[in-house]
Amino acid sequence: MSIENILAQAVAKAVKELYGIEAAPESIVPQQTKKEFEGNLTIVVFPWVKEARKSPEAVATEIGNWIVDNEPAVARFNVVKGFLNIVIEPRFWNSALKHVVDTPDYGTVAVTDKSPLVMVEYSSPNTNKPLHLGHLRNILLGYSLSRILKACGNKVVKTNIVNDRGIHICKSMLAWQKWGNGATPQSVGKKGDHLIGDFYVLFDKHYKAEVKELMEKGLSQEDAEKQSPLMLEAREMLRRWEQKDPEVRKLWEMMNSWVYDGFDETYKRMGVDFDKIYYESDTYLEGKDKVLEGLEKGIMYRKEDGSVWADLTADGLDHKLLLRSDGTSVYMTQDIGTAKLRYQDYPIDKMIYVVGNEQNYHFQVLSLLLDKLGFKWGKDLVHFSYGMVELPEGKMKSREGTVVDADDLMAEMVNTAREVSKELGKLDGIDEAEAEAICETVGMGALKYFLLKVDPVKNMTFNPKESIDFNGNTGPFIQYTYARIRSVLRKAEQSGVKIGNYMTVEPNEKEIAVIQALTDFPSVVQKAGQIYSPALIANYAYELVKLFNQFYHDYTILGETDEAVRSLRLAICQAVAATVKTAMGLLGINVPERM
Ligand code: ARG
Repeated sequence: MSIENILAQAVAKAVKELYGIEAAPESIVPQQTKKEFEGNLTIVVFPWVKEARKSPEAVATEIGNWIVDNEPAVARFNVVKGFLNIVIEPRFWNSALKHVVDTPDYGTVAVTDKSPLVMVEYSSPNTNKPLHLGHLRNILLGYSLSRILKACGNKVVKTNIVNDRGIHICKSMLAWQKWGNGATPQSVGKKGDHLIGDFYVLFDKHYKAEVKELMEKGLSQEDAEKQSPLMLEAREMLRRWEQKDPEVRKLWEMMNSWVYDGFDETYKRMGVDFDKIYYESDTYLEGKDKVLEGLEKGIMYRKEDGSVWADLTADGLDHKLLLRSDGTSVYMTQDIGTAKLRYQDYPIDKMIYVVGNEQNYHFQVLSLLLDKLGFKWGKDLVHFSYGMVELPEGKMKSREGTVVDADDLMAEMVNTAREVSKELGKLDGIDEAEAEAICETVGMGALKYFLLKVDPVKNMTFNPKESIDFNGNTGPFIQYTYARIRSVLRKAEQSGVKIGNYMTVEPNEKEIAVIQALTDFPSVVQKAGQIYSPALIANYAYELVKLFNQFYHDYTILGETDEAVRSLRLAICQAVAATVKTAMGLLGINVPERM
C-alpha cells in the first residue's frame, strides 16, 4: 500500500474514533507538504471541523496525536491552521524503497481470468491516403491508453476499423486506371499508401478542372459537380463494387493491399500494433441487418421514400438516417455493424473509441443507438475525443501542402535527433548501428512524449524543435536521465559493487523526495486508467526524473564510502530506472541504455 493510502486509512479511523465521523479513506487525499513547513504529506482537516465542533487547529492536533500513537509510519506532526503536516517515520522510506526494488512490474496490476475486457479502437484510417499528424496523435493516444488499461488489470483488445470501401477509394482506383500506366509501389519505389494518396490527389485535380470547365460553359457549381464525367465514372465504379464486379474487386484488393503494406510500415516504426483489425467492407452489411432488426422491433421507423431512421428526439437529439431510400448504408450503419461483429468476437465489457472531436455528435448518437439495440456496453461507451494538432507556421508542408505526412514527420524527427545529438557530442564513441538506433529512439520519443503530455481535449501545436530539447519537459530529457542512471548501474556492476543492506540508513531529504515520488506511482497509474489520461503518466515521469536529478546533483553514488549509504543510493537508482522505464512504456516510448 502506498503511504498516501496508509495515511488516508489512519486518518479515517482517527476521525471515526475521535468524532464519530464516517469518512471514506478514498475521500481523504494527502497533499505534498509545502516547502516552507516540515513534513512529507499534509492532511486538510477543514471538512470535519463543523461536526467536531472544535477549532481547525484543535482538530488537526487531535488527529495528529491519534495517528502518531496508532500508525507506525507516522513519526511526528505539526499544525498550521487547518493543515496537519505529517513527517513519515524515516525507516518507512527504506522499506517503501525496498518494496519498489523487489516488486517486478512495480506500479502495474496483473490481469486475471476475472478481469474485465476493454476494447480500445484507434487509428481507423481510410484507405485513400497515407496517415498524417492527426493520425499520429490518435494512434499514440490509443496505444498508450491500451497499455495503461492493461497495467490497471484489464484485459485489453486493441482494434482498428479500416474504412476500405466507398467513393473515396474508387476515386484513387479510377485515377490509377486512367493515368497510372500500371505503376506499382515496387515499380516507382514508393510506399503503397503514398502512391494511392497521389492518385487520390490526381483525381481531385482533374475533377476540379472538369468542374471549372463545365462552369465556364454556364453550369452552376452544383450541376457541374453532378455532371462531371469523372465523378459519374467514380460513382459507376462504386456501383460495380457493390455488385461485386470481379474486375473492380480485383483492382480494389490489389490497391488496398498496397495501402496496408504502407500502413504496416508506419505502425511498425511507431511501435504500435493491433490484436484485431476490422474492415468496413465486412461490417457495413452487418449494420444493415442490425438496423432492419431494429425496424422490426420498432426501434427504427421507415419513411415513405423507403429510408430508415431513428427518432432520438426523446433523448434531446435529432432524427438520424440509417439506411438511404436506395437501401445503402451510411457511416453510422457501418459502426453498428462493426459493434455487432466485435461483440460476437469478444465479451466486451467496455468499449473505447479514440476518434477526433469533430465526431462528438456521431458517438453520442452511436451510444444511444447501441443501447437501444441491446448492446450492454453501448450506453457507457467511451468516446475518447481529442483535438487538432498542427505544426508551427511554415514548418514541413507535406506533398499536398495541407496535411503533415506521418512518415515524413517521423523521418524528420529522427534526423533532428541525429543533428542535436551530434552537436552535443552525445554519440561520440558509439558505433554507427547503435548510434542510429539511439537516434530512432530519441526522435520517436520526442514526438510521442510531446503529443502525449498535453491534455488530449486541447488543440495543440507540435513543435519539433521544442520536443527534442534535452532540458525540459520532453521525452529526450527523460530518456537521457534514464540512460545516465543505467550508466551508473553498469559501472557499479563492472566494478563489482552490489546493492547491500540499506535498511539501517536514515535517508536524507532529497532521497526521501525521490522515494516518496516512487511510492506514488501505482496510484498514478490507477488514476490514469480511471480518467483515461496518458498525460498523467507523462507528467509523473517528468516530475520523478526532476527529483532524481536534484538528488543526483547533490550526492555522489559510486564515490560514497559508507557502504549502506551507497547501497541506498544504488537502490534508488535502480528503482527510478525501473519506474521510468515502466512509465515510458505505458506511453509507448522506449528508453535507451545509453545516449
Ligand atoms: N475512418 C473514419 C474517419 O477517417 C474514422 C473512424 C472512426 N471509428 C469509428 N468507429 N467510427 O473519419
